[in-house]
Amino acid sequence: MTAMVQADGVGRRFGGLEVLEGIDFGLDEGEVLSVIGPSGCGKSTLLGLIAGLDRPTTGTITVGGGTASDDRLARCAYMPQEDCLLPWFSALDNAALALRNQGRGRKVAREEAFPVFERLGLGGFEDAKPAELSGGMRQRVAFARTWLAGKSVLLLDEPLASLDGLTRRSMQAWLAPLLAGGERSAVLVTHDLDEALYLGDRVLVLSGRPGRVLGIREAPGRGEMDPVEASGSRAFSESRNELASLLESASPGDQIGGSQS
Ligand SMILES: Nc1ncnc2c1ncn2[C@@H]1O[C@H](COP(=O)(O)OP(=O)(O)OP(=O)(O)O)[C@@H](O)[C@H]1O
Ligand SMILES: [Mg+2]
Repeated sequence: MTAMVQADGVGRRFGGLEVLEGIDFGLDEGEVLSVIGPSGCGKSTLLGLIAGLDRPTTGTITVGGGTASDDRLARCAYMPQEDCLLPWFSALDNAALALRNQGRGRKVAREEAFPVFERLGLGGFEDAKPAELSGGMRQRVAFARTWLAGKSVLLLDEPLASLDGLTRRSMQAWLAPLLAGGERSAVLVTHDLDEALYLGDRVLVLSGRPGRVLGIREAPGRGEMDPVEASGSRAFSESRNELASLLESASPGDQIGGSQS
């Protein structure tokens, strides 16, 4: 199988600051790769490089067979940490934004967006404004919008970091079936080890800056249980311990591995 995303010897330097070095990995079609690593090690930089918003100083990144920035931009949908919803648009209109941008009229865009909106438990809130929604609901609207952009690769930069622990677990349970469906490939940056293991097929661990790949580990069966049950399982705690000790070698002194980042 050819990889949907392939990074070969990717490095990024900003002036004298070496941020990423010798990054190699492949992301298969339909696969979810979680990325963890100390703060400032270049995770967001890596997503920007994959998305085609930035160019590597060394090495190449291929997305869906294309190496040029425009090829990467055309195939990736990026979800930033802040929900970036338009306050004057209703929830469903926000979710349908990418469809409007592709030229659909409002009614058609809303109809097309609705099944995904409903699958994320937002049915009944079509006409609510973002300010009338809870933080978890706003993140689901933002995820629906990213999903509905229809790109092959989703780049999710700490999408749940702003949520409290309980809301975060329930949000993971909403996302898991969509991500596990194999329709899209995804790179998920998170500081939460349980989230990395629960939503990812594999977990890539980066070292402290300059970020290098310390290891890539299989996750034990994504999304099969509910997140709370999963985090209590033996397979999970073994994987969590392994990731935590890899991260410890990443950069002593950096804050890592908490459930809130
Ligand atoms: N455009 C830029 N110009 C100069 N320096 C940059 C630029 N973008 C990022 N950096 C630097 O690169 C380093 C890595 O930043 P990045 O945002 O990728 O880290 P991160 O791993 O996502 O951190 P966090 O976990 O805190 O989100 C930081 O030291 C940052 O200051
Ligand atoms: Mg970041």
